[in-house]
Amino acid sequence: MIDILRNRRSVRKFEDRKIEEEKLDVLKEALVRSPSSRSINPWEFILVDDRDTLEKLSRSKQHGAGFLAGAAVAVAVLGDTTGSDTCIEDCSIAAITLQYAAESLGLGSCWCQIRLRAHGEDKTAEGFVREILDIQEHYLVECIIGIGYPAESKSPHAHEDLDWGKVRLFSV
Ligand SMILES: Cc1cc2nc3c(=O)[nH]c(=O)nc-3n(C[C@H](O)[C@H](O)[C@H](O)COP(=O)(O)O)c2cc1C
Repeated sequence: MIDILRNRRSVRKFEDRKIEEEKLDVLKEALVRSPSSRSINPWEFILVDDRDTLEKLSRSKQHGAGFLAGAAVAVAVLGDTTGSDTCIEDCSIAAITLQYAAESLGLGSCWCQIRLRAHGEDKTAEGFVREILDIQEHYLVECIIGIGYPAESKSPHAHEDLDWGKVRLFSV
């Protein structure tokens, strides 16, 4: 696990290559094994591998979504706003669990933020994605994780560059 943590970087360029079914099964398993408050599992995940739909999703917002067009799969992470007051936390954990699982399989991934982002002047990114994927009103769209075989390689963040000052020990 620590090697996965050390090596993971956001990947936004992908090979034009499908992800094998067995790997997709592992990614799905990672999602549903993710912990949630009181085990309510207040989420739904929509996997998209259709090129046209990926291209549409890549236009969800003006900046930061373009990479979805080249992903082999995009996973929309939806939070069920009924019955849980922690769906955002639970969805975030599921999304990063998915990213670490992808890394463990030799895949690259990147988070595309949808919640609280604008599509344009009159529409939210959430509203745009809702229409494309036919999502019910009681689900919020937190993010879309783009996944594929990496077509770029990035160095891990160097140990000495990490923000160690943000971590402190409370001592009396
Ligand atoms: C909550 C969250 C939202 C993010 N939104 C986007 C996004 O919309 N588009 C994008 O290209 N990257 C997005 N990222 C990826 C970050 O830019 C990236 O994780 C950060 O720059 C650190 O780089 P690294 O992942 O390679 O360590 C997001 C990451 C997080 C955790």
